[in-house]
Amino acid sequence: MFIDIPSELEAALIDLPLPTWELDGSFLAQSTMDRYRTELTATPQFEETATTLRHALTDEGGGHAVLRLGNLAKALGIGDDRFLQLVNGFAVEVAVPFSPFPRWHLWKDIGVKVDKDPGKSSGIGYNAFHMDLVNASLPPDYTTLLCLRPDPLGGGPSILSDAHAAVARLSEDGRALLAESAYRYGTFFDLFGVGEEYKPFPILDGSPGEGFVRFTAKMLERSPLGRAHADAAKKLAEELVRGQVSFMLQPGDYLIVNQRRFLHGREALHRGQETVLVADRRLLLQLFLRGGGRRRLGPHSRPTAPVTRRVPSPGPAEAEDRFVSTVFLGSGLVFVATLFVAAAAAGTVLSAHQPQDFGRHFAHELLTTYGMRMAAVFVFATSTIGRRLGSFPRGLSLAGVVAGLVLLVVRSSVPWSALVFPAWALLISVYILWAARRAP
Ligand SMILES: [Fe+2]
Repeated sequence: MFIDIPSELEAALIDLPLPTWELDGSFLAQSTMDRYRTELTATPQFEETATTLRHALTDEGGGHAVLRLGNLAKALGIGDDRFLQLVNGFAVEVAVPFSPFPRWHLWKDIGVKVDKDPGKSSGIGYNAFHMDLVNASLPPDYTTLLCLRPDPLGGGPSILSDAHAAVARLSEDGRALLAESAYRYGTFFDLFGVGEEYKPFPILDGSPGEGFVRFTAKMLERSPLGRAHADAAKKLAEELVRGQVSFMLQPGDYLIVNQRRFLHGREALHRGQETVLVADRRLLLQLFLRGGGRRRLGPHSRPTAPVTRRVPSPGPAEAEDRFVSTVFLGSGLVFVATLFVAAAAAGTVLSAHQPQDFGRHFAHELLTTYGMRMAAVFVFATSTIGRRLGSFPRGLSLAGVVAGLVLLVVRSSVPWSALVFPAWALLISVYILWAARRAP
């Protein structure tokens, strides 16, 4: 549904001075939301426009809307902060804006990268139907995209499909399979405000016709699924395509998708993106919204904004987390200090005219006995933290425990034991690089 802004409202919004926004952790601060609401509701026809928007997103059969803010974008400048503040003002009328990603404060750039996986949001190919943050226990209720620049070659229309309508067209057996916790997708790394990793999850998560349809077409290629479950998911993918609508976003268009109703995607960009300057390529900004107030925000809220309330004393779980992170930092520092001392001792022995056994043994023992013990503690602490945050898969954490035990138990006389720590560090580094590339 496309919603035009009445010209009287447009004229009032162009002159409206909104303050810059403040964050409370990963979320837009309540004070900013209150201020925006006060300023905006005083403008003519804003309330009516906001009500139309909310109806479009939540009424029977609804679930998505495009606010046409092109004239405002033109008048204020599309990259201007004032324009983004106005868009935030409209978003606040729907739910609470937040950013699950530590790198992005609220709005996330989605540009075009010709060398990326074409199926990703920043790729150039077909971005198949999906729900954002499909493997989070609390996915964002709304995903929103602000179009700053469409594909200058004319490709990349947005696609949407009513997820519950697609599910209703499946057989009863198919729906029963989709309701089983048999699906998994992707990694879960360094995210805020979206709960815990959900793995395995059911695609149909909630009572029929309601709740999330946790589907991403990428899970069909990239996660090991049993034959029956994969077939049921493929049928859903076909139904989603059968019921899809597609449209081109224009500069200043603000697409809001209710993730409990609709799944989204994008057709391929036009061929020849390599010939378009990076500064001229399609550019969207993404923002997530959390419905139902702040009580449902989940445990991971990023502490970036100034906190004025008194800090409560930690509970047992938090105290345990602090203990593990202190052990992590402490063992890492002691390991490095041990390395330095061992290197200094070895250097002294080598530069002496008559090397002494004491110096040799001192350097050797320091490195292979005490240094390796500290490395073991560091490996244990890292594996525990990775597992608790859901950043490491079970196998990787297990490999860490085994590596730690080897470092702790195997005597320094076993020469290959010195390679265990660097091998583990290499494994972790490769996994983190791999996980970062696969992240949406
Ligand atoms: Fe998406």
